Amino acid sequence: MAIERTLSIIKPDATKRNLTGKIIAKFEDAGLRVVAQKRIQLTKAQAGQFYEVHKERPFYDELCEFMASGPVVVQVLEGEGAIAKNREVMGATNPADAAPGTVRAEFAQSVGENSVHGSDAPETAAQEISFFFSGLEIVG
Ligand code: CDP
Ligand code: MG
Repeated sequence: MAIERTLSIIKPDATKRNLTGKIIAKFEDAGLRVVAQKRIQLTKAQAGQFYEVHKERPFYDELCEFMASGPVVVQVLEGEGAIAKNREVMGATNPADAAPGTVRAEFAQSVGENSVHGSDAPETAAQEISFFFSGLEIVG
C-alpha cells in the first residue's frame, strides 16, 4: 500500500478535556506520523466552509457551532494507507457503534461531539489538507 497523507482534527470536546496527547498517542501507536500540526480557533463561518459538503444535513448548524466552540488541533498524518488507517483508529461516527479501543469508543461524548475528524478519501484528504496547511508547513 502507498504512503498517504490525511487531514485529522482533534475537536473542541477533546481539547477542552485535555485529551490531545492521548489521542495523538493512538495515532502514533497505529504507525501514523504527525507531519504537520497546529492549534487554532475556527470561526463558525470557517467551520461552515470546511463542512460545506454537509450543508443540507439537519445537523449542519449545530456541527458548525460546535466546531467553533473551542480550540481544535489540526494535523496532517502520514503513513501506509493513512486515510483508512486513521478512520480505523477513529472508530465509527456514532460512539455507540465504535469498536473497543478506538478514539471515539474511548473519548467521544455523542454522535456530534465525537472528538476527531478524519478525511474519507484521497481527493477529500488533499482538499482538506490544503484548507489548513501550506506545503511549507508539512515536514515529512
Ligand atoms: O466524521 P465522520 O466522517 O465519521 O462523519 P460524517 O458523516 O462525515 O459527519 C461529520 C460530522 O458531523 C460527524 O463527525 C459529527 O460530528 C457530525 N454529525 C452529527 O452531528 N450528527 C449526525 N447524525 C452525523 C454526523
Ligand atoms: Mg466525514
